[in-house]
Amino acid sequence: MKLLRTVDQVRAALREPRQRGERIGLVPTMGAFHDGHLALIRAAREACEVVVVSLFVNPSQFDATDDLRRYPRDEPSDVRAAEAEGADVLFAPSVDELYPPGFDTWVDPGELGTVLEGAARPGHFRGVATVCTKLFSIAQPNIAWFGQKDAQQVAVIRHVVAGLNLPLEIDVIATVRDADGLALSSRNVLLSPDERARALVLPRAMEAGRTAHLAGGDAVQAARAVLDGEPGVEVDYVAMAEFGAPTLVAAIRVGSTRLIDNAVLG
Ligand code: PAF
Repeated sequence: MKLLRTVDQVRAALREPRQRGERIGLVPTMGAFHDGHLALIRAAREACEVVVVSLFVNPSQFDATDDLRRYPRDEPSDVRAAEAEGADVLFAPSVDELYPPGFDTWVDPGELGTVLEGAARPGHFRGVATVCTKLFSIAQPNIAWFGQKDAQQVAVIRHVVAGLNLPLEIDVIATVRDADGLALSSRNVLLSPDERARALVLPRAMEAGRTAHLAGGDAVQAARAVLDGEPGVEVDYVAMAEFGAPTLVAAIRVGSTRLIDNAVLG
């Protein structure tokens, strides 16, 4: 596996495989790999001859400096894990490489970027859309993989790809969960044992919503009732969203950690 730091290095490494007609798969990540990331890399490995994983904690998608500072980072372990999963290239650029001084060309995903997560984290999806568009332009993949856990992010990326006629396919893999149901997230390591136990209310609420929906009831009301019953959990939002399919989405704060989850009810 090649560990590359610059745009030119990535372009040079992909030139010949592309000329040979090999399919390039891209897995954009912010590192601190868990099994969800590894499942994305595995899906790319199965579908493509060349697998590029990007590792970049993208400052432009964080609205609070504190959140950016706290975001977990472990590049040496990510390098080992990406290599073990058979990635061909790990692209881990510096902030200056992707946002050189004077950078001011942004991708605005429109209204979809301003609701739910976008309302709670102003500018977040502009940062996601911009960095993903840059990564698509740098690696020019045939397919890029994202996780269903970030349902709104997937909807935003699809919206940008369609709106800008970008020549790639977006594939999504199911949310990977711990045995107790908590959706895997790099932020889970920030939870204390007590907070982690309380965070389990989130998958329970998604299940309650799904069950209510199947019984012809109100998924949002059912999920909200479960969340409201858990002390020490602040509910940011619970709502139905049309992300390609009707999707129950929720965000909560446990201590200083924000967690999201969703259930597709289509
Ligand atoms: O989901 C993430 O890890 C990030 O939002 C992404 C897609 C890598 C863009 O920085």
